[in-house]
Amino acid sequence: MAYNLLKGKKGLIFGALNEKSIAWKTAEKAYEEGATLVLTNAPVSVRMGNIEELAQKCDTIVIPADATKVEDLENLIVKGMEQVGGKFDFILHSIGMSPNVRKGRTYDDLDYFLLNQTLDISAVSFHKVLQVCRKMDAINEWGSVVALSYIAAQRTLYGYNDMADAKALLESIARSFGYIYGREKNIRINTVSQSPTMTTAGGGIMGFDKLMDFAERMSPLGNATAEECAEYLITLFSDLTKKVTMQNLYHDGGYSSMGMSRAAMSIYNEGLDYQDVKVDLSKKSKKED
Ligand SMILES: NC(=O)c1ccc[n+]([C@@H]2O[C@H](COP(=O)([O-])OP(=O)(O)OC[C@H]3O[C@@H](n4cnc5c(N)ncnc54)[C@H](O)[C@@H]3O)[C@@H](O)[C@H]2O)c1
Repeated sequence: MAYNLLKGKKGLIFGALNEKSIAWKTAEKAYEEGATLVLTNAPVSVRMGNIEELAQKCDTIVIPADATKVEDLENLIVKGMEQVGGKFDFILHSIGMSPNVRKGRTYDDLDYFLLNQTLDISAVSFHKVLQVCRKMDAINEWGSVVALSYIAAQRTLYGYNDMADAKALLESIARSFGYIYGREKNIRINTVSQSPTMTTAGGGIMGFDKLMDFAERMSPLGNATAEECAEYLITLFSDLTKKVTMQNLYHDGGYSSMGMSRAAMSIYNEGLDYQDVKVDLSKKSKKED
């Protein structure tokens, strides 16, 4: 059911690769809620994925841009504002990728060139988007900008690798830029820390199915889906959340406040001998950390 929460608003959405993407679901919902949109993704992702299909559904165009390249972002903002006929009211940064994860490099054996790429793609690109938008005066007063984060910014999660560092930086950028853009233009900047979600980016993380199962057991409301994330994002883009800024907002079914749950504890009651588990873990290869 639509509520017209974004009626008359103009939005820019980064990161819809395919129908599983959080950005894809958000674009669909934003369009349903009355927004006029521009979609963008890295040129290679535009070629590989099916974002054009989404653009047709949302009655808009795709403007390819590598979010790590300032000149691509400048071109995107000029053409995007032309397309929607003015400044943007909301922007979603839904971008993440770790070349170290892709190449199987563990956190104690990072390639530093690739680490720079992880940080640039997954965090510094958020700064670049904000800085370009501010210099080009591309966001309306009381606009809303959101980037997607993960609890690995606060807690150590086995296998999340250098993406944890990227998310910590991303959340810090939201606070630092949130102060500047808030005081000048009443523009709010937040991050949403989403449950593990089976998407292309999510599926690339080591042991992701186990991580999802654990989070599901630990969350009293269960894992939040991509659709539910999109619904939450719509509220953050709407005028109902005007004074929320510089926050990292958990959208995770309660996971972030839990220590141990009955459902997680039940794993140990299903005939698994805890001592055996300990023995198995001690045999693990050091490389796995
Ligand atoms: N899936 C999860 O479990 C989960 C949980 C919490 C947060 N997140 C975050 O949500 C966001 C969206 O991820 P998703 O799960 O929808 O996966 P996804 O793979 O569908 O989206 C990631 C997007 O990043 C884009 N991207 C990569 N490099 C880029 C570049 N240089 N320029 C522009 N775009 C680029 C990709 O093309 C892709 O569209 C990411 O920030 C991710 O870290 C995901």
